[in-house]
Amino acid sequence: MPTMPPTTSPASLKNADLLTLASLDAAQIEELFITAAATKRDIAPYRRALDGKTIILLFEKPSLRTRVTFEVGPGKMGAKTIFFDHSKERVGARESVKDYGRNLERWVDCIVARVFSQDVLEELAANCAVPVINALSDSFHPCQALADYFTLAEKLGAKQGVKAGLARLRGFRLAYIGDGNNVCASLMHGAAKLGVQFTVICPKGYQPEPAVIEEARAMAGASGGTITISHDPGAIKGAQAVYTDTWVSMGDEAEKVKRMSAFAKFRVDEKLMDLATNGASGGPAPFFMHCLPAHRGAEVTDAVIDSPSSIVYDQAENRMHVQNALLLHMLGGV
Ligand code: CP
Ligand code: NVA
Repeated sequence: MPTMPPTTSPASLKNADLLTLASLDAAQIEELFITAAATKRDIAPYRRALDGKTIILLFEKPSLRTRVTFEVGPGKMGAKTIFFDHSKERVGARESVKDYGRNLERWVDCIVARVFSQDVLEELAANCAVPVINALSDSFHPCQALADYFTLAEKLGAKQGVKAGLARLRGFRLAYIGDGNNVCASLMHGAAKLGVQFTVICPKGYQPEPAVIEEARAMAGASGGTITISHDPGAIKGAQAVYTDTWVSMGDEAEKVKRMSAFAKFRVDEKLMDLATNGASGGPAPFFMHCLPAHRGAEVTDAVIDSPSSIVYDQAENRMHVQNALLLHMLGGV
């Protein structure tokens, strides 16, 4: 029977919300990763951990990974999930967000919400006693960034484990090329917490929100992480992992034509990956990362996403393991 992970410091996550990664400290992330690694190795000891818990999923936008992982994961640990399709009527349309929260807290143990506005999440969290998890908003995607850093920690830790991998993330050079929106913002928060040297490469006008850059830079002081913003694809040189995301996020569809042309020079192709490799002076080929869904031929070529250095499906799998860990710590399952 595998040993259960320690239950000490992350107890502070009991009943916590996860609206952005800024609310987690490095020690909590480490504990989450240790639990995620344990549940990934063997879910058997956790089969009854969330017995009797009910989690509601409120989704205003489409999803494959987030919905499936938040349904399959809790199911493996004894919890029940209810899916509410809010694609036709946004949260807050039929009754106020405040009343929504005040009702839901009477029946469910956790709210997982994918919404347009971050304000809806803030308002839900302010008006209900149960944990609220951001399953993506226009501004942040914290569950994605947690899975991404967990994946890197697994790769870097190899046989020595995720804790060793986390230590190796300090000073690790991660370059994000594309739109500086939700996924990028959460990666930036994570970089600041974990000591990663994070470079955002984007067209002018698509950089992350100045307030988020400032917040991340302020948080990075303690970890030694750095946040660099560039508009030059050449800044990819030396990156140990290259990350991209769609050029047209959910909600940005009306700007598709403008965006396709603005981002055309920011495609991740073999030439760009070579540039990253060469800058790393003979080190291993950089990892290719993507939150998915990918638009093959747009932000990334088939050759790159299908290459041996692509870890995109590991990222997708790990969404479930880190979210399982989150739920276990938030709902008192460990
Ligand atoms: N990466 C991610 O959140 O995927 P979905 O939009 O399919 O949930
Ligand atoms: N930036 C993308 C992420 C999808 C997971 C979007 O918001 O559509």
